[in-house]
Amino acid sequence: MPQPHLRTVVVLAAGEGKRMKSALPKVLHPLLGRTLLGHVLTAAAPLAADRTVVVVGHGAEQVRAHLTEIAPDATPVLQAQQLGTGHAVRIALEAVPEASGTVVVINGDVPLLRAETVAALVAAHEGEGAAATVLAAEVPDPTGLGRIVRDAAGRLEQIVEERDATPAQRALREINAGIYAFDAVRLRDALGKLSTDNDQGEEYLTDVFGLLVSAGEPVGVHVAADHVETLGCNDRVELAGLRRLLRDRVNEAWMRTGVSILDPDTTWIDVTATVERDAVIDQNTQLRGTTVVGAQAVVGPDVTLIDTVVGAAATVLRSHAVGAEVGPGASVGPYAYLRPAARLAEKSKVGTFVEVKNSEVGPGAKVPHLSYVGDATIGAKANIGAATIFVNYDGVNKHRTVVGEAAFIGCDTSLIAPVEVGAGAYVAAGSAISQDVPPGALGVTRAPQRSIEGWVARKRAGTVSAAAAERALAEGASAGGPVAREGEAIHGDAETVGRPSAAGDTATE
Ligand code: UD1
Ligand code: MG
Repeated sequence: MPQPHLRTVVVLAAGEGKRMKSALPKVLHPLLGRTLLGHVLTAAAPLAADRTVVVVGHGAEQVRAHLTEIAPDATPVLQAQQLGTGHAVRIALEAVPEASGTVVVINGDVPLLRAETVAALVAAHEGEGAAATVLAAEVPDPTGLGRIVRDAAGRLEQIVEERDATPAQRALREINAGIYAFDAVRLRDALGKLSTDNDQGEEYLTDVFGLLVSAGEPVGVHVAADHVETLGCNDRVELAGLRRLLRDRVNEAWMRTGVSILDPDTTWIDVTATVERDAVIDQNTQLRGTTVVGAQAVVGPDVTLIDTVVGAAATVLRSHAVGAEVGPGASVGPYAYLRPAARLAEKSKVGTFVEVKNSEVGPGAKVPHLSYVGDATIGAKANIGAATIFVNYDGVNKHRTVVGEAAFIGCDTSLIAPVEVGAGAYVAAGSAISQDVPPGALGVTRAPQRSIEGWVARKRAGTVSAAAAERALAEGASAGGPVAREGEAIHGDAETVGRPSAAGDTATE
């Protein structure tokens, strides 16, 4: 004999959500880090139900796949035809014949619902030994919602859908939030007696209340302290409204824990993200997914972090990061792009117009400007000059580059992987490095320079450049360096061309 279930949660998620006008089922629309369905399941999670049943119908395959990801223990039950909320619960209970005790039913489209509120509803219901208890709220605009109809003594008489209501009932502003607790046995019994005698010809779950009242069963109303929690979502305008409300709730909670949010109206923090004390979040910032921002870090303005960890006291300015790690005290941006498995160690720097993917940037190492770092390991305190490209892809395979501790890569260098630059080695600016550079050596592949005298006068006569050159030469100006006549090569001495200052004078801090 299976143990009886003392608590069962049923989430109704079979409806199409027509007014969303979407290929995505309504309950799968995202809202600050979770789907609508994900929010509802999270609110129900602390009830520690023995079984959670999710009624699926429209987009059933998509909803089932999502459940496998976010709530593998939940049982999807198919309602092939949406014949009403009462019909949906009836089908759900057929799938859990062992359910006894309390059945909590939640509409799948009330994402602002708090766990505390569901818990309070269930506690009130179980405490009073009621047959059924409905979560109600006073709302400014009850349009489209079921009304709570009470008798002269204030006891629940019935729940009436707006389309079936009398004008007097329509004037009521106390609504049914679509969240209920039932006694399983009496719920099953009443569900068997539902009619479809209403404007939509559906089996209404709400009619269970009228039936129980007529049978003399005790029913209760639990009024939500904050009606905002009960707001449903029927179209994308309402979804955007819910997103703003949730944003404000999340931001306020973080500010109360000691986080500075400079512009709460433009700061969007997923419910799944974490921000530590004394972090500063500047405007136009999104913290998404499993992002964590450490204590005293400064993030923003204009930053999007997705599944990214930012260490204590790091700064991230006008940048986009996905699946990256920014170490304590590190500095990112402005205009950096950190891609998955970009790992920046403490006090490292990834600066302006720099893209980093699947690479470690060592402690105190710097990649300040205009670079691509892919599949690389960069040692501590290495300096990567402007416009260095880690050439990681040969068209078929990706290869790794290793840059040793305190190595110095001159500007405009290609490091053609697989390749290794040893600790303390230098690479001359403008080199294309495809062979390992030993520790302490200078790697240089630069062609020697030659200057062909008089070329502009001969080939670009009549231009502003020719005129400027003529004036300069008349004043006796001369540039140093080897000079050749046209067609004549100059053979430089590698030691001279590659002198450390050749790297140093064009590298940047
Ligand atoms: C329902 C309530 C109404 C309440 C409102 C709160 C009924 C009859 N009415 O109305 O009193 O004020 O919620 O938002 O219950 N669903 C199914 N199968 C179905 C029909 C619906 O799974 O056959 C699901 C929907 O996907 C949705 C939920 O049940 O998540 C509510 O259905 P919906 O059609 O939105 O009911 P409302 O008209 O909003
Ligand atoms: Mg609805």
